[in-house]
Amino acid sequence: MTTNPSGTPVPPRPATTGTAVFSARGLTKNYDATRALADLSLDIRAGESVAVMGPSGGGKTTLLHCLAGIITPDAGQVLLQRDGGTTDVARLSDRDRSALRRSTFGFVFQQGLLIPELTALENVAVALMLLGVDRASAEHSAAQWLAALGLAGMEDRRVGQLSGGQAQRVAIARAQVTGASVIFADEPTGALDSGTSAEVMDILLHSTTGTGKTLVVVTHDDDVARRCARTVRLRDGRIVSDSLRAEVAA
Ligand SMILES: Nc1ncnc2c1ncn2[C@@H]1O[C@H](COP(=O)(O)OP(=O)(O)OP(=O)(O)O)[C@@H](O)[C@H]1O
Ligand SMILES: [Mg+2]
Repeated sequence: MTTNPSGTPVPPRPATTGTAVFSARGLTKNYDATRALADLSLDIRAGESVAVMGPSGGGKTTLLHCLAGIITPDAGQVLLQRDGGTTDVARLSDRDRSALRRSTFGFVFQQGLLIPELTALENVAVALMLLGVDRASAEHSAAQWLAALGLAGMEDRRVGQLSGGQAQRVAIARAQVTGASVIFADEPTGALDSGTSAEVMDILLHSTTGTGKTLVVVTHDDDVARRCARTVRLRDGRIVSDSLRAEVAA
């Protein structure tokens, strides 16, 4: 095993093939005295499902936010391959990063990112309307996604009139309605009971894996990680293990 400059062992990277959709190189992010990411490098390939695990405060959310261009690292690069070219997400202007997030990435967070004043249908449609799609077409696509995720008949409910599991399905529909090629999920089932959690994860995994979409999901749940092709564990802002599950990856 090699070591990084601070002497910490770096696990060998799994031997996968295919194009890296993300190549993060030397990511470092500090919050005052806290080092949230410490010279972290990671390749994620197109179509991979990656579970990001590790103790609280280990840097999981910070990594996701750097990959997705929600925050910029203090040092390092986040190279994204798309349309035959390479973009350094960390070097884009705020405006370009925001456009990239809307068009290419979908997000599912633990809770709270649906707009309570809007209906289920409107919450999903708004993702398309932000890309300039007209309301009628956006609502048509939104209704199709809601139906595909088992929410037919619930289009007109407001967020407060949905169960936690239903609200997360709306969030999954919203993340995917734009055709996003990378889905980021940060503890998407963290606020749900175990039965509902399994259902929501089923829906998230079925709607991503095998479709060519890339899924990066932060989870504390071993069952969720077992269903992903790869598990990356972080501690103190570093990768401490990176393993592929042959039966899922095949
Ligand atoms: N906005 C912030 N301001 C100050 N410190 C922060 C901020 N965001 C994260 N941190 C710190 O950076 C470190 C990594 O945080 P991060 O949220 O990435 O951890 P995490 O692995 O997602 O943890 P959890 O499992 O609890 O969600 C922690 O020590 C945290 O306190
Ligand atoms: Mg977190």
